[in-house]
Amino acid sequence: MPHFLDIHKTDTADLRSIVDTARAMKDGRNGRPKGAPDDDRPLDGRMVALIFEKPSTRTRVSFDVGVRQMGGQTMVLSGADMQLGHGETIADTARVMSRYVDLIMIRTFEEATLLEMAEHATVPVINGLTNRTHPCQIMADVMTYEEHRGPIAGKKVVWSGDGNNVFASFAHAAQQFGFELTFTGPEPLDPEPRLHDLITIERDPMKAVEGADLVVTDTWVSMHDPQSAKERRHNQLRGYQVNTRLMSAAKPDALFMHCLPAHREDEVTSEIMDGPHSVIWDEAENRLHAQKAIMRHCLGA
Ligand code: CP
Ligand code: NVA
Repeated sequence: MPHFLDIHKTDTADLRSIVDTARAMKDGRNGRPKGAPDDDRPLDGRMVALIFEKPSTRTRVSFDVGVRQMGGQTMVLSGADMQLGHGETIADTARVMSRYVDLIMIRTFEEATLLEMAEHATVPVINGLTNRTHPCQIMADVMTYEEHRGPIAGKKVVWSGDGNNVFASFAHAAQQFGFELTFTGPEPLDPEPRLHDLITIERDPMKAVEGADLVVTDTWVSMHDPQSAKERRHNQLRGYQVNTRLMSAAKPDALFMHCLPAHREDEVTSEIMDGPHSVIWDEAENRLHAQKAIMRHCLGA
């Protein structure tokens, strides 16, 4: 079953084809109204379930709009309103949902929930973020880099901050797309050890960003982190804020990305978010195009 569960679980050639398809589909829309369907309506007659166990703005709206542009229909479901976690197993939910819909996108907490859904669904399942990874985001990020600067292979990407779920998908992408990835952050917030072979770790942020083609950060407190950890994390991460001083140590034409939502003046200053290095709005838009290509890949459409 062609699920899209993680970047390291997808064929390298398929990942390349998804990014290229996304760019072609974006170009092909030629600025038509957001609600106007694509000419080929590749999801005509298809029904897509979008399940959210955590909040979302970009993932929810971009998947919903993307399905409709491709001629399909959506149902957006909150995990809290379903029987998920109220006694019915994920496996049984997957079996039932597969009788109603053609594709399932799920944003959840535990990776085990996603994997159980994928194992028992008879339709493709897409990972819309777990505590551990966020692959759709990084497909949009690779697309965005290449749209602005050409091939990402061989480039130096630096992540400053928490070694979280979004970082993990960046590490998988570094291997698959062939770019260098440096992590800079405090040791207690290091990425999972299984990722260390794929990355360079440099504690000094100014040294880390030297020669960077792309600088990336994310929130210091993720949705699955306890709010009680907020103050400690802020103290640990303050020195890793992306600001003018840090960005000036990167290449002069380096790009800045953030998956959003951002906490201005915490992990990044407004000066950087709204400044000339930033491509965050293109990055957010490209969620739409990248996910449309991912859905086509999963459905063979
Ligand atoms: N970047 C991202 O996934 O945003 P949402 O949480 O708003 O979906
Ligand atoms: N790391 C963040 C990403 C949000 C899109 C979180 O998991 O909350």
